[in-house]
Amino acid sequence: MSERVKEITMDIVEATRDVLRKHNVTFPEYRAGFMHLAKTQQAGEIPLLIDVFFNSTVVDIENKTRKGSRAAIQGPYFVEDAPLVDGQLAIRDEDNDQPRMVMRGKVKGTDGQPVAGAVIDVWHSTPEGRYSGIAKHGEIDKKYYRGKITTDANGNYECYSILPVPYQIPNKGPTGQLLEEYMGGHSWRPAHIHYWVHADGLRDVISQAYFEGDQYIENDSCNGGGSEFMVAEAYDGDVRVMEVNFELEPAAAKMQAAE
Ligand SMILES: [Fe+2]
Repeated sequence: MSERVKEITMDIVEATRDVLRKHNVTFPEYRAGFMHLAKTQQAGEIPLLIDVFFNSTVVDIENKTRKGSRAAIQGPYFVEDAPLVDGQLAIRDEDNDQPRMVMRGKVKGTDGQPVAGAVIDVWHSTPEGRYSGIAKHGEIDKKYYRGKITTDANGNYECYSILPVPYQIPNKGPTGQLLEEYMGGHSWRPAHIHYWVHADGLRDVISQAYFEGDQYIENDSCNGGGSEFMVAEAYDGDVRVMEVNFELEPAAAKMQAAE
């Protein structure tokens, strides 16, 4: 038996009972909610539903234990074995006319020292808002729009790609119906780049970057952290510059936080 599982489960049950009482929920309403959850389960959308509402909360809790760069939601489209890249993510032929961006910045420790040889996994959407390497997204080869970038001797990194776009999370099933039809909201996310930064002896961090001017930054269906992760609009010629620096604390801090 786990005391922690028992305690948290009972608190979830009690909090839910409080909501039912507060709204005088009727039996037909209870059944309707119940059936909607069953439908969500049948559609394989329980992970999506839970992530939409609660992933960002767990990230907020984790951030309380962090020094240096704050974490953001990971999302469901990270792929374990992305290719190692050198300054350029692979671009599909049909996307050659898309606007370009460059991701650049520095990785430092919280002691201010640059970190050489840090590995940054980056991944972002296609111009249609899909991800490579994801079966449901049409089997786009995972070499496109994702890769592992390494920092140089001064802790700097630089990598070119095309611009990602705002996209809708899966909205054709019961989760989308709940967000859009029943709650009058939407299923859009701002355009973003995902990052996962690893370095020996330092605490890894999963982050995101948003593009200044995007209408969904503060109105994100996944509550992805808002303007805290926004990068000011800047260009190098006609290439959008996304300068994002990371500061990693010693890995020991992660161990302590877990205790
Ligand atoms: Fe994403």
